[in-house]
Amino acid sequence: MTEPMDPLVAEIHELRRSRNAVILAHYYVDGEVQDVADFVGDSLQLSQAAQKTQADVIVFAGVHFMAETAKILNPTRKVVLPDLSAGCSLAEGCPADRFAAFVAKHPDHYVLSYINCSAGVKAVSDCIVTSSNAEKIVRSVPEGKPILFAPDRNLGAYLSKKTGRDMLLWRGSCIVHETFSERKIIALKTRHPDAEIIAHPECEPSLLAMASYIGSTSALLSYTERSPSKTFIVATETGILHQMQKRSPEKEFIPAPPEGNCHCNDCPFMKKNTLEAVRDALRDLTPEITLDEDLRVKALRPIERMLELSAG
Ligand code: 13P
Ligand code: SF4
Repeated sequence: MTEPMDPLVAEIHELRRSRNAVILAHYYVDGEVQDVADFVGDSLQLSQAAQKTQADVIVFAGVHFMAETAKILNPTRKVVLPDLSAGCSLAEGCPADRFAAFVAKHPDHYVLSYINCSAGVKAVSDCIVTSSNAEKIVRSVPEGKPILFAPDRNLGAYLSKKTGRDMLLWRGSCIVHETFSERKIIALKTRHPDAEIIAHPECEPSLLAMASYIGSTSALLSYTERSPSKTFIVATETGILHQMQKRSPEKEFIPAPPEGNCHCNDCPFMKKNTLEAVRDALRDLTPEITLDEDLRVKALRPIERMLELSAG
């Protein structure tokens, strides 16, 4: 016998139909929100989905820079973010005016910015990257051309090590990926000696050194499907465990623990996307993402360059 549908979920389905809306969700939002979405993906996949959707409304269950990127790529659609205060510590740690001044001091550098930044930062960048295409894009920059990378110093340091390219780094970081306790992970590994430690490149270098596989959220997810290991210690935001468990129900996924006695491995911004907030956004078509057209056009150029370089 099939379970009756939760009335809130039924309301979301009905509003989505009447609004001709699409719900895009990042892997870090709560599982119940992922389960009502039309598409769940990493930052790159979500940008691609937002660019090509024909729906009138995009409800972006993610954070502000993601919804803003959707609006930059598909400006004729109405883009709503269920909670306008869903920011990102990386984006907030890199104000556009300070970043523009930093770029102006290094006019010979090729400016690569992680997608976790504001439209203002994108507008003064040469190319955008996500964690799933960053290595390929760094390698596409001509040898000898100095690279400036912002805003995540951990991803920047990881890319520099991987590609051998010297990179000038903006010193930002993600509050979630800097929270993991190496001491507790070592204790977990002692209890689960066969477990594989896998990590997102936003983690600190000392934590990445403990991992047997490093990748974006979608790369981590597909790795857990193809690896013969049965147990994984997952050093990234906890939301991804929902998809890992769904795709490999026979395997065990243990969230890497934070140092303190807290839920600091949950992104407080992503978790603002509750089912109620998604329902309200669909019903009221707010909070809407709007952008100055001049800024949108400037920010679009480096995003399009990224999409071209990611193809194939
Ligand atoms: P990806 O899903 O692109 O790996 O990004 C992780 C992230 O921190 C999004 O905020
Ligand atoms: Fe930003 Fe970190 Fe949250 Fe991702 S997990 S949205 S990088 S604060």
